Amino acid sequence: MSSSIVTVAYIGATILFILSLGGLSNPETAKRGNWYGIVGMAIAVIATVFGWRVFGNGEIPIVVGAGFVFILLAMVIGGAVGLYAARTVQMTQMPELVAIMHSLVGFAACAIGFASYIDTSTVFATHAEHTIHLVEIYVGILIGAVTFTGSVIAFGKLSGRIDGKPLLLPARHWINLAGLILVIIFGKFFLGAETIAGGMFPLIVMTLISLAFGVHMVMAIGGADMPVVISMLNSYSGWAAAATGFMLSNDLLIVVGALVGSSGAILSYIMCRAMNRNFISVIAGGFGTTATSSSSAAAAPAGDVKSISAAETADMLSEAKSVIIVPGYGMAVAQAQHAVFEMTKLLRDKGVNVRFGIHPVAGRMPGHMNVLLAEAKVPYDIVCEMDELNDDFPATDVAMVIGANDIVNPAAQDDPGSPIAGMPVLEVWKAKHSIVMKRSMASGYAGIDNPLFYKDNNLMLFGDAKKMLDEVVATLKAK
Ligand code: TAP
Repeated sequence: MSSSIVTVAYIGATILFILSLGGLSNPETAKRGNWYGIVGMAIAVIATVFGWRVFGNGEIPIVVGAGFVFILLAMVIGGAVGLYAARTVQMTQMPELVAIMHSLVGFAACAIGFASYIDTSTVFATHAEHTIHLVEIYVGILIGAVTFTGSVIAFGKLSGRIDGKPLLLPARHWINLAGLILVIIFGKFFLGAETIAGGMFPLIVMTLISLAFGVHMVMAIGGADMPVVISMLNSYSGWAAAATGFMLSNDLLIVVGALVGSSGAILSYIMCRAMNRNFISVIAGGFGTTATSSSSAAAAPAGDVKSISAAETADMLSEAKSVIIVPGYGMAVAQAQHAVFEMTKLLRDKGVNVRFGIHPVAGRMPGHMNVLLAEAKVPYDIVCEMDELNDDFPATDVAMVIGANDIVNPAAQDDPGSPIAGMPVLEVWKAKHSIVMKRSMASGYAGIDNPLFYKDNNLMLFGDAKKMLDEVVATLKAK
């Protein structure tokens, strides 16, 4: 394949990736966006593997033979692992999968950085060009190493293998600053090295410092701020890919890396706003000093609650004129989305106005609830964002909370000392009645008690969300 065909293919793939990002921004167009991405990536891979750099230009095959077989073998193994992971992973484990995938991007950037440094086949016309190439290698390995260990720690925290509490070393900011200064000093040694062997020592020292920084940075971030960390590492993995693109002089990788890097950064900003966090404070660490697991009852229940049965819930819902359903992480755990939709259909058939209120950080990953509701075929027009209907709760008869906790916690507004103070929440307690469906009085992700449970107009429907909803649906059908 000639270089001009490869260039055209890369431009086509870039356009498809941009269309893909545009499509993914809305549930209605997300499927189409996914297809754009799949086709774009297929074009990119084919154009690269059969392009002139790898395959030759038809006349002079470069590495057809052993090298080509290695590429195919790697693609088959990587594709099989990816397919297996995508098919077996539970929706609730998605953030962990994303985190570990980011670590692979970081690792690849480091490996390519070292390979580019050792590779002497490229001849540089000027000294300046060579220096630029060395800077690309140094920065690429730096970002890659931070992304690699940061993502591995994020994976450990999200999967509960590492404690979610922030590790706050004394003088941690000074430690980070010292690391940065050392990285700059060793960068000077690296650029000044006469031989590859001479440059290898500062390169390895910088890599070790960056690896340690990645660990320290994510270890210092509290459980409640992990959503921001995931999107931030997403952004880093994009910049690591862009750096790899510079090292390999691959324009497509630079563009795609920049797209991922900037969209990840925008997402981090949106998440920070949704949680009322300052981005710099999150990165500096120490926020969200809380536990990670939904079963950890870090705060003892304070007060009496009123319970309700599934049959009584069905009665209340069918008598209501307007209902707002607020789904959370528990709906994902229970895989209750189909039962939720069945209940919604039955209520709408009875003339009840049913809408869904989606908090930006409900569940464990951005868009978690939207994905589940779309899978269950809930119409998009009744799925509203928090800001769209937070003012409608006072005119709502029943606010039904399904497996959500932190995102409906009034302490975010009333208790300035709360770890989630200032986080915008869905004001379900302002509805005439609220019903909270969960299995126990256990706290949510932030590990704190929820005063909503003890409000006079609140009722608790204890049990697994899927089981309880099936019972509600059965009662509604029998009516
Ligand atoms: P949580 O506050 O974690 O509450 C979920 C509730 O679901 C728990 O209190 C749990 O109570 C209940 N539950 C669990 N399994 C259930 C089941 N089978 N049936 C019924 N209920 C079940 O979730 P949320 O309200 O969605 O808030 C999200 C939290 O996660 C926020 O703190 C957010 O910062 C954090 N977070 C979000 C993300 C993103 S990007 N969305 C990523 C990481 C962390 P029981 O155990 O009593 O049933």
